[in-house]
Amino acid sequence: MAGLLLALTGCAKNAPQDTFEPKGPVSRTILNLSRPVFIIAGVVFVLVQGLVVFAVIKFRDRPDRPGPEPEQIHGNTKLEVGWTLIPALILFSIAIPTIKTIFDLSHKPANALQVTVIGHQFWWEYRYDDLGITTANELSIPAGVPVELTLESVDVIHSYWIPPLAGKTDVIPGRKNHMSFEADKPGTYLGQCTEFCGLSHANMRARAIAYTQSDFDTWVARQKAPAAAVPDGSEAAKGLALFNAKGCAGCHTVEGVSQGKVGPNLTHLQSRSTFAGSIFAMNEGNLRTWLHDPPGVKPGSVMPNLGLTGEEITQLIAYLETLQ
Ligand code: CUA
Repeated sequence: MAGLLLALTGCAKNAPQDTFEPKGPVSRTILNLSRPVFIIAGVVFVLVQGLVVFAVIKFRDRPDRPGPEPEQIHGNTKLEVGWTLIPALILFSIAIPTIKTIFDLSHKPANALQVTVIGHQFWWEYRYDDLGITTANELSIPAGVPVELTLESVDVIHSYWIPPLAGKTDVIPGRKNHMSFEADKPGTYLGQCTEFCGLSHANMRARAIAYTQSDFDTWVARQKAPAAAVPDGSEAAKGLALFNAKGCAGCHTVEGVSQGKVGPNLTHLQSRSTFAGSIFAMNEGNLRTWLHDPPGVKPGSVMPNLGLTGEEITQLIAYLETLQ
């Protein structure tokens, strides 16, 4: 029953991580391969299981079994040739489009936007080296333009997967993996780390936000702008002092303020719609919950509970809200 219920979740409409609703050429290419293979596998499954069930029922032992025990045989050349040859032919016919698809997908697109994706426990860092941008949790891309990701990890093995756009690729320490994709249209595409990487593996979400080219250019300009200045004596200024005093600056970069490399770059924190591995929508209430006790709401979080008072949290949020 549990298995059946799980299978029924596959009927959900508008599921954001549905591989059967491709939103780009790469995921469509994958679906065009997996659909016929799945159909062939399904037919084989039903045939084989049907025959097994039929034989189990029809030839079961029972008190009124008609006649004597059936004749016992050993070996049947025709059958054995048949059940070797037919699967070999099926596998061969699947191998041809599979190999073609593998080659098609390994082809690197020309003029792709280059982004380095760095897996951390438990969030994604995105570096646009050509543009001089570092951000986190949300991958911003232009729609209709190929993107090539170089995937690295600073700690354990993660796996990057945004099902509407592409297949998954492992993110391995000490190794650079590559993947490419393209979004057909502007929109937000959800994904997930798909390699168990620790306590908050399930809280390591991936989001790709595809913009029109002009909106993407606006995004780039915003990311390249310096961090906003904080007026002297304001709540935000007190928050900035706390940011330095409480150790936030040791882990986070805010351009012109701090150089920390452990946590996400916060220079334009408010340009993102989510934070903490994309599990929280960016708003004051969620920031308050988060700052009060990060590992309490995201188990295994590297960001510690700093024991902040309510007033300190209010001041820090006032500062974080200047980081547009
Ligand atoms: Cu990172 Cu699971």
